[in-house]
Amino acid sequence: MSVPAVNLGPALKETRAAWQSRLAEMFARSHFILGEQVAAFEGELAAAFQARFAIGVGSGTDAIQLCLREAGASAREVITSALTASFTGIGILAAGCLPRFADVNPRTLEIDPEDAGNRMTRRTAAFVPVHLYGQPCAIDSFARMARAHRKLLVQDACQAHGAQCGGKPFTEFSGWVAYSFYPTKNLFCLGDGGAILTNRASSARRLRALRDGGRRGGQISYMAGVNSRLDEMHACYLRAFLPRLNEWNEDRRRTARLYDQGLKDCPAVGMVERTEDSVCHLYVIRAHRRDRLRQHLASQGIVTGVHYPAPLHLQPAFRDCGLRRGDLPHAEKACREILSLPLWPRLPATSAEEVIERIRRFYRR
Ligand SMILES: Cc1ncc(COP(=O)(O)O)c(C=O)c1O
Repeated sequence: MSVPAVNLGPALKETRAAWQSRLAEMFARSHFILGEQVAAFEGELAAAFQARFAIGVGSGTDAIQLCLREAGASAREVITSALTASFTGIGILAAGCLPRFADVNPRTLEIDPEDAGNRMTRRTAAFVPVHLYGQPCAIDSFARMARAHRKLLVQDACQAHGAQCGGKPFTEFSGWVAYSFYPTKNLFCLGDGGAILTNRASSARRLRALRDGGRRGGQISYMAGVNSRLDEMHACYLRAFLPRLNEWNEDRRRTARLYDQGLKDCPAVGMVERTEDSVCHLYVIRAHRRDRLRQHLASQGIVTGVHYPAPLHLQPAFRDCGLRRGDLPHAEKACREILSLPLWPRLPATSAEEVIERIRRFYRR
């Protein structure tokens, strides 16, 4: 049996009528940039995620960049997790800031607020904590720290669509929340796309200008913005998928529970802790002889991922961050052990059982 890491087929099929009708509306209006679909999606997303405003942008990386620029962090230091997509750091660089990295909690692999706090200096402008793998990080600790030390707080929620923290929407913890709609995400489009959520009217106004070359609807650029608009076509897909998000997240949780049950007593497999708040973007285990296991699963047709193979402080793009091998031991160790198992909405239980069985057999050999 072959099991891909991600398969969007079922989600596309069950929403086909909805996205086809949105695309037909778009073609009828012949409006492809910042038109009715994007405006409607922004309203629907803000309502679904309990925020006042949503601003569609070109990618999650741009969302992070524009949040930092709007917040006024440019040219200063920004602390984020060493264990995240490199694009978190790239977004920080694109804002003209200097990325600094903190270690993770070894049990959850989420950014450790205490370590981040210890790395704060007078040059620190902002924290960008990441809600990794769909699990909300300790955002209340970051919010307290940011308030106490007058630092900005931008959340990277690119892997946590629909998640809340203790029943509160992310926008209650800070003024800037960045999302990606890259095709593998819990809420996705069929190319690059992203959004920023905020409760502040003034930020929303400035972000709408920043994403559109600094313009305010006309041909005059009032600030040095960028060209990073969510396309109408992507908004058509997103409007069709958004009503399914909670159901799809529940389906991911169901698969995650199957993996929990099937692997919990496997001595060579370590579990990454998560809470009920997680929307299970990825199901990550810590595996003894990870690369061998990965090869073995691939030989059986089971495709896995590694999120991520190197912490950001050891990647060449961030060599100026001032850290070396050994400086962030929990993130470094995790990168040698972690493995993401197949996970997507409507993954058949039989496929998850096959993955479990193949892993158990590998360690029994
Ligand atoms: C945690 C995290 N941050 C940022 C990004 C960047 O998003 P995008 O690929 O839409 O630019 C991603 C997605 O790759 C991500 O997973």
